[in-house]
Amino acid sequence: MATLVVVAALALCFACADARRPPHIVFILADDYGWNDVGYHGSEIKTPHLDRLSASGVRLDNYYVQPLCTPSRNQLMTGRYQIHTGMQHQIIWPCQPYCVPLDEKFLPQLLRETGYATHMVGKWHLGMYKKDCLPTRRGFDTFFGYLTGSEDYFTHHRCVLVPPNNDMRCAVDFRDGEEVAEGYDGQYSTHLFTKRAINLIYKHNKEKPLFLYLPLQAVHSPLQVPSRYLEPYAFINNTDRRHYAAMASVMDEAVGNVTQALRESGLWDNTVLVFSTDNGGQTLMGGNNWPLRGRKWSLWEGGVRGVGFVASPLLSRPGTVSRELIHISDWLPTLVALAGGTTNGTKPLDGFDVWDTISKGNPSPRQELLHNIDPLYEDIAPCPGTGSRLTLADVRSPEPWSYSKFNVSVHAAIRYKNWKLLTGYPGCDYWFPPPRIADSMEVSTPATTLKPVMLFDIESDPEERNEVSKKHPEVVAFLLARLEQYSKTAKPVNYPDDDPKCDPGPGGAWGPWV
Ligand SMILES: *[C@@H]1O[C@H](CO)[C@@H](O)[C@H](O)[C@H]1NC(C)=O
Ligand SMILES: *[C@@H]1O[C@H](CO)[C@@H](O)[C@H](O)[C@H]1NC(C)=O
Ligand SMILES: *[C@@H]1O[C@H](CO)[C@@H](O)[C@H](O)[C@H]1NC(C)=O
Ligand SMILES: *[C@@H]1O[C@H](CO)[C@@H](O)[C@H](O)[C@H]1NC(C)=O
Repeated sequence: MATLVVVAALALCFACADARRPPHIVFILADDYGWNDVGYHGSEIKTPHLDRLSASGVRLDNYYVQPLCTPSRNQLMTGRYQIHTGMQHQIIWPCQPYCVPLDEKFLPQLLRETGYATHMVGKWHLGMYKKDCLPTRRGFDTFFGYLTGSEDYFTHHRCVLVPPNNDMRCAVDFRDGEEVAEGYDGQYSTHLFTKRAINLIYKHNKEKPLFLYLPLQAVHSPLQVPSRYLEPYAFINNTDRRHYAAMASVMDEAVGNVTQALRESGLWDNTVLVFSTDNGGQTLMGGNNWPLRGRKWSLWEGGVRGVGFVASPLLSRPGTVSRELIHISDWLPTLVALAGGTTNGTKPLDGFDVWDTISKGNPSPRQELLHNIDPLYEDIAPCPGTGSRLTLADVRSPEPWSYSKFNVSVHAAIRYKNWKLLTGYPGCDYWFPPPRIADSMEVSTPATTLKPVMLFDIESDPEERNEVSKKHPEVVAFLLARLEQYSKTAKPVNYPDDDPKCDPGPGGAWGPWV
């Protein structure tokens, strides 16, 4: 009895202490990091820090992201599906005059309102054509990094064909706060970002909870890396894969250095660290998602099933693997609740609070997941080979789905429990073996002909090899009806033409021009 009381008192005290001390939150987002690119998934790429850290936490095995950079970041920051922000199509290209709608409330704004210091180090990619779109205007106290994507890791220059004449403009995209950051030419971004993150951690006033958002440039193309990191990968013949592997090693080292700083600074005991990729690997640029089908830009599992884990002394069941359905839009409600804040001021959320699912192993509140509906989709990175690419024309045949109110020529996918339904052209549908199994240029051919409506049981068939729509017409009808309902809630696609005024001119820097 006495023991029970003591235990109860301790539990209560722990709850009180928890309520008084919201956890520090460190969110590390990798760029284009594929399913088969982390050691613990059996990759030839060595990631000892990620392996160890995730083994001490909870690995997310049924975790989803969006198939592209801007959309995943957009959903992370708003907790809402792309169709609800009008950003269901592609990414924000450097000269497009738009950003995530300014009436969307961002995760760092919510955390700041509940008392957090909020810092961002790395890649933004959520729009920058005017100052109101910048990270420092959307909830971050400080920002060090870049605003677009695909820039040089050393010079921090981004080259863009600018309208109206498609002249090539190469200009720096690197900022400290809202000012152009000078003096970093020649320094590798993963090292720079790690150094800044560590400085922020050591300087942090422990009385305040910290939110550190660290969206690294790694391991997105261009495939650049300091040469010493290549040495352990001499055994990889494929040049792209070798460079990519070395870049992943720097990222792994970065995660090791950041966690070491959290420990040494005394923050770790009250920290929740999330590691996530933003989308599947790009097989054209060294990434790999084997044995999953497809790649970045596609709605196949290789595009959307993400590497992710949570590490924290605050987890109830550390050392476990979660097989519950979790999505990148779930972090906003999850982290704001952990912080003791409210989601007051956000628009209707598509994400769920999944902390008890991750920490305690409870069933996920999420049963369904809208991957996307994009009526304008085109695959800008078509499948290898000729004649192998299914075009929209091939799928424009509504039979036998004529009962469907949802236009099955539209690129869309939805998940419900174990079921995944795809319509239209999902993107490159090959399985790309890793270079160890075959040279990466060699691809296994698709096993099935694509159809306008395809159904897979992801639970038993994560590789999407057995299309089963004929066997389960009732599931197909149900999911088509769900897609139809979702499409009624979609905002019109916002995807403006390039604005010639984006050109920063010779010697200028990419940044707000309006
Ligand atoms: C790698 O290249 C070397 C030299 O060209 C060759 O002997 C070896 O068989 C290749 N290894 C693989 C796995 O392709
Ligand atoms: C991690 O820290 C070590 C030791 O200070 C340093 O040599 C290395 O460059 C750091 N790595 C990164 C990615 O910052
Ligand atoms: C939500 O925000 C509004 C406006 O900022 C405020 O008036 C209201 O009291 C808030 N509600 C809660 C429950 O915090
Ligand atoms: C169905 O979607 C396709 C692809 O987006 C489009 O070309 C076609 O016009 C749509 N059909 C109807 C009836 O809306």
